[in-house]
Amino acid sequence: MHSNSLPRYFCDSQGRKFELEVYWNAPFLSMFAVSKNIRVAKALLHVSAPCAKLSDIIVSDKIVTSYAWWREVLKCPKSEKFRGQGIGTALLENVLAKLRTLGVSRVDGEMVTEDHQMAALARWYVRNGFVRRPGTNMIYCDL
Ligand SMILES: CC(C)(COP(=O)(O)OP(=O)(O)OC[C@H]1O[C@@H](n2cnc3c(N)ncnc32)[C@H](O)[C@@H]1OP(=O)(O)O)[C@@H](O)C(=O)NCCC(=O)NCCS
Repeated sequence: MHSNSLPRYFCDSQGRKFELEVYWNAPFLSMFAVSKNIRVAKALLHVSAPCAKLSDIIVSDKIVTSYAWWREVLKCPKSEKFRGQGIGTALLENVLAKLRTLGVSRVDGEMVTEDHQMAALARWYVRNGFVRRPGTNMIYCDL
């Protein structure tokens, strides 16, 4: 389940610790960030070296945690926020590191946003080494 070439854990900007779960079952690569037995982020890829396709990458918006049922009853849910804390960046960095070990030199993807934040999403990919094909939502990264 874990890949020896990658760290077992990483921390987000709040110092929360996440376990990195990696599943490589050719041609599918999936990676998860896990906290308190909950998968809070996932990345799914189809790999056919030297190319790979990023099918999905998503960080949970927020999750109601600890004593969730009682907190619902008492109307005081304690939710944790996960987006915008560096989790997606850490996950993507580890995905790219794993792809390098698999002999991948080009990753393609298409930006699809559920919350109409296309400009922010495009900036996020570019900051993480991707190039946007002009006039489209297609992106790629040369490793
Ligand atoms: C895009 C996504 C994976 C980034 O992961 P993340 O952990 O939230 O991002 P990070 O903390 O590493 O980086 C934060 C940056 O991402 C940007 N971002 C892009 N989309 C965002 C979103 N939907 N929510 C919050 N931040 C987002 C923020 O603007 C922020 O940039 P800033 O530092 O300039 O303010 C995550 O926000 C997400 O799951 N979004 C919804 C699903 C989605 O659009 N997936 C991409 C499919 S192609």
